[in-house]
Amino acid sequence: MRAEQNEFLTRTGPGTPMGELFRRYWLPALLAEELPAPDCPPLRVKLLSERLIAFRDTQNRLGLVDEFCAHRGVSLWFGRNEENGLRCSYHGWKYDVTGQCVEIPSEPDNPKLCQRMKLKSYPLIERGGVLWTCMGPADQRPPLPEHEWAMVPAPHRFVSKRWQECNYLQAMEGGIDSSHVSFLHRHTMTVDPLFKGAKGNEYNLRDLKPHFEVVESPGGLYIGARRDTGDGKYYWRITQWVMPSFTLIPPRGDHPIGGHSWVPMDDENCWAWSTNHHAMRPLTHGEREALEAGKGIHVPLIPGTFRPLANKDNDYLMDRSAQKDGGSFSGVEGFAMQDASVQESMGPIQDRTRENLVPTDQGIIVARRRLVKAAEQLGKGVTPPGTDPSQQRVRSVSIILPQGVAFSEAAEAALVPGPGSAHATV
Ligand code: FES
Ligand SMILES: [Fe+2]
Repeated sequence: MRAEQNEFLTRTGPGTPMGELFRRYWLPALLAEELPAPDCPPLRVKLLSERLIAFRDTQNRLGLVDEFCAHRGVSLWFGRNEENGLRCSYHGWKYDVTGQCVEIPSEPDNPKLCQRMKLKSYPLIERGGVLWTCMGPADQRPPLPEHEWAMVPAPHRFVSKRWQECNYLQAMEGGIDSSHVSFLHRHTMTVDPLFKGAKGNEYNLRDLKPHFEVVESPGGLYIGARRDTGDGKYYWRITQWVMPSFTLIPPRGDHPIGGHSWVPMDDENCWAWSTNHHAMRPLTHGEREALEAGKGIHVPLIPGTFRPLANKDNDYLMDRSAQKDGGSFSGVEGFAMQDASVQESMGPIQDRTRENLVPTDQGIIVARRRLVKAAEQLGKGVTPPGTDPSQQRVRSVSIILPQGVAFSEAAEAALVPGPGSAHATV
């Protein structure tokens, strides 16, 4: 990859081609519980390199506005959230959830001046326990998102987020790279309560050289990883990638389906949203307990923050003896930090001019190409793939198929499931 191509793919600030593309999608911004009640404390939010403030007003309306006061640039994080607006704590200018200035108490009454003062603002809507925003032009906003995990009843779902200290792209690329599972996660797979016991795990561990086939879906990609079952059939793990950065991990047994949304904070940090959902049943008490304890693809956090307890400042609590005696392939504990540790180790933005891609990187290669194409075509007025809710209502699949069939056709009913259909899983 040339350096310019890497820049094109990894920069998502205002005015960049990839930034403009990301701004056409509804993206997770906050957990709903972060703004728990009317007039609760406002929150700083950094997304796509923009510094914003989120708040819930007296009437329960949600606002996401420029962090800095239109008067002289004070952070509205210091503001008073009261009587349907956020009041700057310096000279008392007050803004409503749309960013409109509604009061300038420091000046003689001047409605015109007040009206002229409007902060940049974005919509904030609640769905699936998450507050979503769409930071593009208002007249180009797509319908609300319908990813399955956000649409199932609340008892069927668990959502967490963690701060990952690197560019979104290298994090997301881990999410569509099925071949690392047999190495990086090899031991964790057999002991983690959200993974263990599935027949599919045996195939994962038996065949370390999966064959990849990648098929374009309307909203992204179906990434098929094929392994031999040992009895003349193929075990397929089919990951969903929905543009721009949503992934769904193929299920294991009856465990809930895992997925991620990789949302850029700025070019060197991202939010790793991690979801588990079951289409057919509520999560069990035991599952929820494990999820809350940071098992599966979730992670224990430093209390009061979204920074993992194991992080780059403590070398991810690397355990060299576990690495040596077989307790852990990498020595880092848990799927999420195994992933985050290797991905953050690439540096804040991986230098892709120095990489050497091989056939098992096929999913990554095609995803990059599709992102570039969508960003380029956006300039010509083409609506990006993955913005239509029908393209988001897809599911990851694990399935045994006969040899010689095209996985995307043979598994189509499972990849785009009808309402109320069971997981296709091994
Ligand atoms: S800086 Fe906000 S009111 Fe003056
Ligand atoms: Fe992983």
